[in-house]
Amino acid sequence: MALNDSLLDVRGLRVRFPGRDGEPVEVVKGIDFTVGTEKVALVGESGSGKSLTARALLGLVPHPGQVIAEHLRFGGNELLRLSARQWQALRGTRLSLVLQDPKYSLNPVLKVGAQVEEVLVLHTRLGRRERREKVLHMLDAVGLPNPTALYNSYPHQLSGGMGQRVMLAAMLINDPRVLIADEPTSALDSSLRDQMLELIMGLVEQRGMGLLLISHDLPLVAKYCDRVMVMYRGQIVDRCQATDLATASHPYTRTLWNCRPSALTYGQALPTLDRSVLEERP
Ligand SMILES: Nc1ncnc2c1ncn2[C@@H]1O[C@H](COP(=O)(O)OP(=O)(O)O)[C@@H](O)[C@H]1O
Ligand SMILES: [Mg+2]
Repeated sequence: MALNDSLLDVRGLRVRFPGRDGEPVEVVKGIDFTVGTEKVALVGESGSGKSLTARALLGLVPHPGQVIAEHLRFGGNELLRLSARQWQALRGTRLSLVLQDPKYSLNPVLKVGAQVEEVLVLHTRLGRRERREKVLHMLDAVGLPNPTALYNSYPHQLSGGMGQRVMLAAMLINDPRVLIADEPTSALDSSLRDQMLELIMGLVEQRGMGLLLISHDLPLVAKYCDRVMVMYRGQIVDRCQATDLATASHPYTRTLWNCRPSALTYGQALPTLDRSVLEERP
């Protein structure tokens, strides 16, 4: 893909935290990637730096973490130069993040309608009635039944799967160009997981968006994504087409594929992998 076509263009991204002895600890170690109008997966075991990579793209790395990069471009703009206010505007409009568990992302004291609407209040000049119309339409688009009733419900009245759909509606209502989804389905049971991913993929395609999907579920990635980047200890160690995951030659990718979650282990963290496999590599 030509560089101009990429929505996100990341070069030399590093994330550091101060270590105990004062030396910084680097947890993302200079990674390069682009995301265009396509579905890109970022996979890797727990602790490899996936979430911090996502957070760096949204200006959400927690204090005292430090983000360094040669460049971090989004639609031609340099994100590293944004002010706190500009980051906030960007997050609400052009770049959205869906997280694992709606319990932590939906505000329990705010009705569903108001929550989905919040982005419109903050970032558009739409009037009350137009906003409501748009919210109802979006709730319907993410497959939620009876949007009018739902509009006045509270998050605790929803099932996990419904909560996740509400979150997705809130993230998509302003037509972002890129959606970053960090393990968006790992709190859901297996039947809902597929439904939810199919929904995300369908909306991403329909709207011509880019998707960066963080997941440790390799079969799902193989099924739904175009490209895969494999992260290990803060670095991208392998890249391939999603359809080639099953036959990947890199030992780490192969190990990940072989310890993919089954119905039995689903929902548990991916086990830490046998490092000798990698360290024996020439
Ligand atoms: N706030 C923080 N302070 C210090 N270290 C952190 C912080 N958040 C994450 N880390 C460390 O950064 C590494 C990568 O974390 P993360 O990006 O969350 O991994 P992943 O999403 O791949 O499981 C982990 O080793 C974790 O311990
Ligand atoms: Mg994570």
